[in-house]
Amino acid sequence: MRRQQITKAVIPAAGLGTRFLPVTKASPKEMLPLVDKPLIQYVVEEAVAAGIRQIIIITGRGKRAIEDHFDISFELEEILKQTGKEHHIPGLRRISEMADFCYIRQSQPQGLGHALLCAKHLIGDEPFAVLLGDDIIDHSTPALKQMIDIYERTPAPIIGVQEVEDSEVHQYGIIDAAQTIDELHKINHLIEKPTKEDAPSNLAVIGRYLLIPEIFEMLEKTKPGKNNEIQLTDALNDLAAFRTMYGYQIKGNRYDAGDKLGFLQATVEMGLKNPSLGKAFKAYLKGLSL
Ligand code: UTP
Repeated sequence: MRRQQITKAVIPAAGLGTRFLPVTKASPKEMLPLVDKPLIQYVVEEAVAAGIRQIIIITGRGKRAIEDHFDISFELEEILKQTGKEHHIPGLRRISEMADFCYIRQSQPQGLGHALLCAKHLIGDEPFAVLLGDDIIDHSTPALKQMIDIYERTPAPIIGVQEVEDSEVHQYGIIDAAQTIDELHKINHLIEKPTKEDAPSNLAVIGRYLLIPEIFEMLEKTKPGKNNEIQLTDALNDLAAFRTMYGYQIKGNRYDAGDKLGFLQATVEMGLKNPSLGKAFKAYLKGLSL
Protein backbone atom coordinates (compact mmCIF):
# COMPACT_ATOMS: atom_id res chain seq x y z
CA MET A 1 0.00 0.00 0.00
CA ARG A 2 1.32 3.46 -0.90
CA ARG A 3 1.98 5.63 2.14
CA GLN A 4 0.08 8.90 2.10
CA GLN A 5 0.02 11.44 4.88
CA ILE A 6 -3.07 11.28 7.07
CA THR A 7 -4.60 14.75 7.43
CA LYS A 8 -8.34 14.05 7.75
CA ALA A 9 -10.24 12.65 10.71
CA VAL A 10 -13.87 11.66 11.04
CA ILE A 11 -15.51 11.93 14.46
CA PRO A 12 -18.88 10.15 14.49
CA ALA A 13 -21.01 11.91 17.10
CA ALA A 14 -24.56 11.23 15.93
CA GLY A 15 -25.41 8.40 18.33
CA LEU A 16 -28.37 8.68 20.69
CA GLY A 17 -26.33 8.16 23.84
CA THR A 18 -28.99 6.01 25.49
CA ARG A 19 -26.60 4.83 28.21
CA PHE A 20 -26.50 8.39 29.48
CA LEU A 21 -30.22 9.17 29.48
CA PRO A 22 -31.82 11.41 30.61
CA VAL A 23 -28.92 13.86 30.25
CA THR A 24 -28.70 13.06 26.53
CA LYS A 25 -32.39 13.76 25.91
CA ALA A 26 -31.63 17.28 24.72
CA SER A 27 -27.82 17.60 25.03
CA PRO A 28 -25.12 15.73 23.09
CA LYS A 29 -23.10 13.39 25.29
CA GLU A 30 -20.00 14.60 23.41
CA MET A 31 -20.55 17.98 25.11
CA LEU A 32 -20.49 16.58 28.66
CA PRO A 33 -17.81 18.52 30.58
CA LEU A 34 -14.70 16.67 31.63
CA VAL A 35 -13.32 19.12 34.22
CA ASP A 36 -13.48 22.26 32.04
CA LYS A 37 -13.71 21.06 28.44
CA PRO A 38 -16.36 19.05 26.61
CA LEU A 39 -15.42 15.44 25.84
CA ILE A 40 -15.20 16.04 22.12
CA GLN A 41 -12.62 18.81 22.57
CA TYR A 42 -10.19 16.29 24.10
CA VAL A 43 -10.70 14.08 21.05
CA VAL A 44 -10.21 16.95 18.59
CA GLU A 45 -7.06 18.07 20.44
CA GLU A 46 -5.70 14.53 20.25
CA ALA A 47 -6.30 14.47 16.49
CA VAL A 48 -4.68 17.87 15.97
CA ALA A 49 -1.65 16.80 18.04
CA ALA A 50 -1.29 13.86 15.64
CA GLY A 51 -1.11 16.16 12.61
CA ILE A 52 -4.77 16.12 11.53
CA ARG A 53 -5.84 19.33 9.80
CA GLN A 54 -9.42 18.62 8.72
CA ILE A 55 -12.00 17.38 11.21
CA ILE A 56 -15.25 15.98 9.84
CA ILE A 57 -17.85 15.62 12.58
CA ILE A 58 -20.94 13.47 11.97
CA THR A 59 -23.82 15.04 13.83
CA GLY A 60 -27.52 14.42 14.13
CA ARG A 61 -30.64 15.49 15.97
CA GLY A 62 -29.94 17.67 19.02
CA LYS A 63 -26.20 18.06 18.30
CA ARG A 64 -26.12 21.79 17.40
CA ALA A 65 -24.05 22.61 20.51
CA ILE A 66 -21.07 20.74 18.98
CA GLU A 67 -21.01 23.07 15.95
CA ASP A 68 -21.41 26.13 18.14
CA HIS A 69 -18.54 25.02 20.37
CA PHE A 70 -16.02 24.85 17.51
CA ASP A 71 -17.29 28.05 15.87
CA ILE A 72 -16.33 31.65 16.68
CA SER A 73 -18.88 33.29 18.98
CA PHE A 74 -18.80 36.99 18.09
CA GLU A 75 -21.63 37.87 20.51
CA LEU A 76 -19.84 36.20 23.43
CA GLU A 77 -16.56 37.90 22.53
CA GLU A 78 -18.36 41.26 22.39
CA ILE A 79 -19.90 40.73 25.85
CA LEU A 80 -16.52 39.62 27.25
CA LYS A 81 -14.94 42.82 25.90
CA GLN A 82 -17.70 44.98 27.37
CA THR A 83 -17.38 43.35 30.78
CA GLY A 84 -13.59 43.50 31.05
CA LYS A 85 -13.17 39.73 30.60
CA GLU A 86 -11.41 39.82 27.24
CA HIS A 87 -8.58 37.65 28.61
CA HIS A 88 -10.84 34.66 27.84
CA ILE A 89 -10.96 35.47 24.12
CA PRO A 90 -7.62 33.99 22.91
CA GLY A 91 -8.44 30.64 24.56
CA LEU A 92 -11.87 30.60 22.95
CA ARG A 93 -10.46 31.55 19.53
CA ARG A 94 -7.92 28.74 19.77
CA ILE A 95 -10.77 26.22 19.86
CA SER A 96 -12.13 27.29 16.49
CA GLU A 97 -8.71 27.79 14.90
CA MET A 98 -7.30 24.35 15.81
CA ALA A 99 -8.39 22.79 12.52
CA ASP A 100 -10.81 23.10 9.59
CA PHE A 101 -14.13 21.79 10.83
CA CYS A 102 -16.95 20.48 8.70
CA TYR A 103 -20.16 18.79 9.66
CA ILE A 104 -22.32 16.16 8.06
CA ARG A 105 -25.72 15.28 9.39
CA GLN A 106 -26.64 11.65 9.69
CA SER A 107 -30.40 11.88 9.27
CA GLN A 108 -31.06 8.76 11.36
CA PRO A 109 -28.70 6.96 13.72
CA GLN A 110 -28.30 3.82 11.61
CA GLY A 111 -25.07 2.72 13.22
CA LEU A 112 -21.40 3.61 13.37
CA GLY A 113 -20.78 2.12 9.91
CA HIS A 114 -23.54 4.22 8.41
CA ALA A 115 -22.24 7.35 10.18
CA LEU A 116 -18.82 6.78 8.63
CA LEU A 117 -20.30 6.23 5.18
CA CYS A 118 -21.82 9.73 5.41
CA ALA A 119 -18.24 11.13 5.18
CA LYS A 120 -17.29 9.23 2.01
CA HIS A 121 -17.50 12.22 -0.35
CA LEU A 122 -15.24 14.33 1.90
CA ILE A 123 -12.52 11.70 2.23
CA GLY A 124 -11.78 11.03 -1.44
CA ASP A 125 -8.81 8.83 -2.20
CA GLU A 126 -6.77 9.16 1.00
CA PRO A 127 -6.26 7.18 4.18
CA PHE A 128 -8.00 8.80 7.14
CA ALA A 129 -8.48 8.55 10.88
CA VAL A 130 -11.65 7.82 12.84
CA LEU A 131 -11.98 8.82 16.51
CA LEU A 132 -15.07 8.16 18.59
CA GLY A 133 -16.25 11.33 20.27
CA ASP A 134 -16.78 9.79 23.71
CA ASP A 135 -13.63 7.66 24.01
CA ILE A 136 -11.00 9.52 26.03
CA ILE A 137 -7.43 8.21 26.01
CA ASP A 138 -4.86 9.83 28.25
CA HIS A 139 -1.14 9.38 27.49
CA SER A 140 1.86 11.67 27.05
CA THR A 141 1.96 10.57 23.37
CA PRO A 142 -1.58 11.08 22.07
CA ALA A 143 -3.20 7.77 21.05
CA LEU A 144 -3.71 8.78 17.43
CA LYS A 145 -0.09 9.98 17.18
CA GLN A 146 1.07 6.55 18.41
CA MET A 147 -0.97 4.95 15.61
CA ILE A 148 0.19 7.36 12.90
CA ASP A 149 3.82 6.71 13.93
CA ILE A 150 3.18 2.99 13.35
CA TYR A 151 1.41 3.69 10.05
CA GLU A 152 4.47 5.62 8.81
CA ARG A 153 6.45 2.38 9.12
CA THR A 154 3.61 -0.02 8.29
CA PRO A 155 1.16 1.64 5.88
CA ALA A 156 -1.92 -0.53 6.36
CA PRO A 157 -5.31 -0.12 8.07
CA ILE A 158 -4.74 -0.07 11.83
CA ILE A 159 -7.33 -0.48 14.57
CA GLY A 160 -6.69 0.71 18.11
CA VAL A 161 -7.08 -2.07 20.69
CA GLN A 162 -6.54 -2.54 24.41
CA GLU A 163 -6.66 -5.56 26.69
CA VAL A 164 -9.87 -5.95 28.68
CA GLU A 165 -10.91 -8.37 31.45
CA ASP A 166 -12.61 -11.66 30.54
CA SER A 167 -15.76 -10.29 32.14
CA GLU A 168 -15.78 -7.35 29.70
CA VAL A 169 -15.21 -8.99 26.30
CA HIS A 170 -18.96 -9.20 25.66
CA GLN A 171 -19.11 -5.38 25.51
CA TYR A 172 -16.55 -4.98 22.70
CA GLY A 173 -15.43 -5.99 19.24
CA ILE A 174 -12.62 -8.51 19.88
CA ILE A 175 -9.80 -9.26 17.45
CA ASP A 176 -8.52 -12.67 16.44
CA ALA A 177 -4.82 -12.01 15.87
CA ALA A 178 -2.74 -14.22 13.60
CA GLN A 179 0.69 -12.95 14.46
CA THR A 180 2.06 -10.47 16.95
CA ILE A 181 5.19 -8.36 16.87
CA ASP A 182 5.49 -6.17 19.96
CA GLU A 183 2.25 -4.25 20.24
CA LEU A 184 1.19 -4.84 16.62
CA HIS A 185 -1.21 -7.72 15.93
CA LYS A 186 -2.02 -8.90 12.41
CA ILE A 187 -5.78 -9.36 12.36
CA ASN A 188 -7.45 -12.51 11.05
CA HIS A 189 -10.91 -11.29 11.85
CA LEU A 190 -13.04 -9.49 14.43
CA ILE A 191 -15.95 -10.76 16.50
CA GLU A 192 -18.53 -8.30 17.76
CA LYS A 193 -19.42 -8.72 21.45
CA PRO A 194 -18.52 -12.42 21.89
CA THR A 195 -19.19 -14.44 25.03
CA LYS A 196 -16.09 -15.00 27.15
CA GLU A 197 -15.98 -18.62 25.87
CA ASP A 198 -16.08 -17.52 22.21
CA ALA A 199 -13.64 -14.61 22.51
CA PRO A 200 -10.45 -15.37 20.53
CA SER A 201 -8.43 -12.89 22.64
CA ASN A 202 -8.79 -10.14 25.22
CA LEU A 203 -7.88 -7.44 22.71
CA ALA A 204 -10.86 -5.13 22.40
CA VAL A 205 -11.42 -2.57 19.66
CA ILE A 206 -11.49 0.94 21.14
CA GLY A 207 -12.45 4.17 19.44
CA ARG A 208 -9.44 4.86 17.20
CA TYR A 209 -8.96 3.66 13.62
CA LEU A 210 -6.71 4.43 10.65
CA LEU A 211 -8.61 3.37 7.55
CA ILE A 212 -8.37 3.39 3.79
CA PRO A 213 -11.07 4.48 1.30
CA GLU A 214 -11.85 0.84 0.35
CA ILE A 215 -13.74 0.65 3.65
CA PHE A 216 -16.52 2.67 1.98
CA GLU A 217 -17.01 -0.02 -0.69
CA MET A 218 -17.33 -2.56 2.12
CA LEU A 219 -19.76 -0.36 4.04
CA GLU A 220 -21.92 0.13 0.95
CA LYS A 221 -22.29 -3.64 0.70
CA THR A 222 -22.88 -4.15 4.44
CA LYS A 223 -26.43 -5.17 5.31
CA PRO A 224 -27.96 -3.84 8.53
CA GLY A 225 -27.07 -6.18 11.39
CA LYS A 226 -27.79 -6.04 15.11
CA ASN A 227 -30.38 -3.35 16.07
CA ASN A 228 -30.88 -2.79 12.33
CA GLU A 229 -27.61 -0.81 12.32
CA ILE A 230 -24.82 -0.87 9.74
CA GLN A 231 -21.93 -2.21 11.79
CA LEU A 232 -18.38 -1.02 11.13
CA THR A 233 -17.11 -4.38 12.42
CA ASP A 234 -18.79 -6.23 9.52
CA ALA A 235 -17.12 -3.94 6.97
CA LEU A 236 -13.75 -4.28 8.74
CA ASN A 237 -14.04 -8.06 8.50
CA ASP A 238 -14.69 -7.77 4.76
CA LEU A 239 -11.65 -5.52 4.43
CA ALA A 240 -9.46 -7.89 6.48
CA ALA A 241 -10.29 -10.63 3.97
CA PHE A 242 -8.19 -8.98 1.26
CA ARG A 243 -6.03 -6.37 2.99
CA THR A 244 -3.47 -6.83 5.72
CA MET A 245 -4.91 -5.11 8.76
CA TYR A 246 -3.37 -4.59 12.18
CA GLY A 247 -4.55 -4.10 15.70
CA TYR A 248 -2.26 -1.74 17.60
CA GLN A 249 -2.23 -1.90 21.38
CA ILE A 250 -2.66 1.74 22.36
CA LYS A 251 -0.74 2.96 25.38
CA GLY A 252 -2.65 5.08 27.85
CA ASN A 253 -5.60 5.15 30.21
CA ARG A 254 -8.82 4.85 28.27
CA TYR A 255 -12.21 5.94 29.54
CA ASP A 256 -15.52 5.11 27.93
CA ALA A 257 -16.98 8.48 28.81
CA GLY A 258 -20.26 7.64 27.07
CA ASP A 259 -20.92 5.31 29.99
CA LYS A 260 -21.83 6.77 33.41
CA LEU A 261 -19.15 4.91 35.38
CA GLY A 262 -16.47 5.54 32.73
CA PHE A 263 -17.38 9.20 32.76
CA LEU A 264 -17.06 9.42 36.56
CA GLN A 265 -13.69 7.64 36.45
CA ALA A 266 -12.44 10.06 33.77
CA THR A 267 -13.69 13.03 35.79
CA VAL A 268 -11.82 11.93 38.94
CA GLU A 269 -8.58 11.05 37.13
CA MET A 270 -8.52 14.16 34.95
CA GLY A 271 -9.58 16.32 37.88
CA LEU A 272 -6.61 15.03 39.89
CA LYS A 273 -4.24 15.77 36.99
CA ASN A 274 -5.59 19.27 36.40
CA PRO A 275 -2.84 21.83 37.16
CA SER A 276 -5.12 24.38 38.81
CA LEU A 277 -7.61 22.08 40.56
CA GLY A 278 -5.69 18.86 41.20
CA LYS A 279 -4.25 19.72 44.61
CA ALA A 280 -7.50 20.95 46.12
CA PHE A 281 -9.46 18.09 44.56
CA LYS A 282 -7.03 15.52 45.99
CA ALA A 283 -7.35 17.05 49.44
CA TYR A 284 -11.14 16.90 49.09
CA LEU A 285 -11.09 13.20 48.03
CA LYS A 286 -8.72 12.31 50.88
CA GLY A 287 -11.14 13.87 53.33
CA LEU A 288 -14.03 11.67 52.22
CA SER A 289 -14.83 8.90 54.67
CA LEU A 290 -15.14 6.06 52.17
P1 UTP B 1 -22.18 4.07 20.70
O1 UTP B 1 -22.12 2.61 20.59
O2 UTP B 1 -21.50 4.72 21.86
O3 UTP B 1 -23.71 4.48 20.60
O4 UTP B 1 -21.61 4.65 19.35
P2 UTP B 1 -24.45 5.77 21.11
O5 UTP B 1 -25.79 5.80 20.50
O6 UTP B 1 -23.63 7.00 20.91
O7 UTP B 1 -24.57 5.54 22.69
P3 UTP B 1 -25.43 4.48 23.50
O8 UTP B 1 -24.75 3.15 23.31
O9 UTP B 1 -26.84 4.53 22.99
O10 UTP B 1 -25.32 4.97 24.89
C1 UTP B 1 -20.22 4.75 19.12
C2 UTP B 1 -19.94 6.07 18.42
O11 UTP B 1 -20.59 6.08 17.15
C3 UTP B 1 -21.41 7.22 17.03
C4 UTP B 1 -21.71 7.67 18.45
O12 UTP B 1 -21.99 9.05 18.51
C5 UTP B 1 -20.44 7.26 19.20
O13 UTP B 1 -19.44 8.26 19.11
N1 UTP B 1 -22.62 6.84 16.27
C6 UTP B 1 -23.30 5.72 16.62
C7 UTP B 1 -23.04 7.62 15.23
O14 UTP B 1 -22.43 8.66 14.90
N2 UTP B 1 -24.16 7.24 14.54
C8 UTP B 1 -24.85 6.13 14.85
O15 UTP B 1 -25.85 5.83 14.15
C9 UTP B 1 -24.42 5.35 15.92
